[in-house]
Amino acid sequence: MKRIVVLTGAGVSAESGIQTFRDGDGLWNKYRFEDLASPQAWARDPELVQEFYNWRRKIVWEAEPNEGHIALVRLEQKYDVQIITQNVDDLHERAGSKNILHLHGEIKKARSTADPNLVYELDHWELKMGDKCEKGSQLRPHIVWFGEAVPMIEPAAEISSTADIFLVIGTSMVVYPAASLIIYAKQDIPKYYVDPKAFQVSGVSNLEVIKKAAGEGVPELVDTLLDQ
Ligand code: APR
Repeated sequence: MKRIVVLTGAGVSAESGIQTFRDGDGLWNKYRFEDLASPQAWARDPELVQEFYNWRRKIVWEAEPNEGHIALVRLEQKYDVQIITQNVDDLHERAGSKNILHLHGEIKKARSTADPNLVYELDHWELKMGDKCEKGSQLRPHIVWFGEAVPMIEPAAEISSTADIFLVIGTSMVVYPAASLIIYAKQDIPKYYVDPKAFQVSGVSNLEVIKKAAGEGVPELVDTLLDQ
């Protein structure tokens, strides 16, 4: 069975009502990530950081997968599909995809500030100061903040190198190391980039650019790949 590796970014969830970061009304066009999504921000004003992620988590809690997420599940009829997402929402999971690797964490989880191995599923959108882990330390969002290591990048690179087909959906390709994953894909395999602002990525061959929203472009691409 051929393997399709899919790298997704905020754009795949945009039509589910979840804001992107660098698009028109993207989060980082309105707020400074240094104030909300960094260890320094957490040290300076943890309540503000909790509030930011509670606001985002509530939106995720109320969002639904869109046609882009759902089409990727259909691919599993014919391919071994491995999803590597930069997104912290659980819309790929809720659409029914089986193999999902979160590079930047998961907003519906919290983790101990004393032991990063202690990770907890949240059963409510609100995480508060005073919510503690089993060791009595404050819980923080289970998110990779700017300046923090990306622990899943090695397995993600390994998976990317095994792709027979590589898809990129809804990402500006400006945040590393995630953006480098396409380089780990073999040069001679077919690659597709679905994004209204998709572009030819330098140093990458066999890349077909599909300048469409995920909700339209991904189902069309999936139909093509299932017909092959
Ligand atoms: N369908 C497909 N793509 C879309 C859609 C849509 N409906 N709407 C917007 N896009 C595209 C934009 O054209 C843009 O290329 O989604 C991309 C969003 O880019 P960013 O906002 O930079 O998001 P992303 O690439 O996922 O950011 C990477 O940066 O802030 C960090 O950790 C955060 O995971 C995030 C990382």
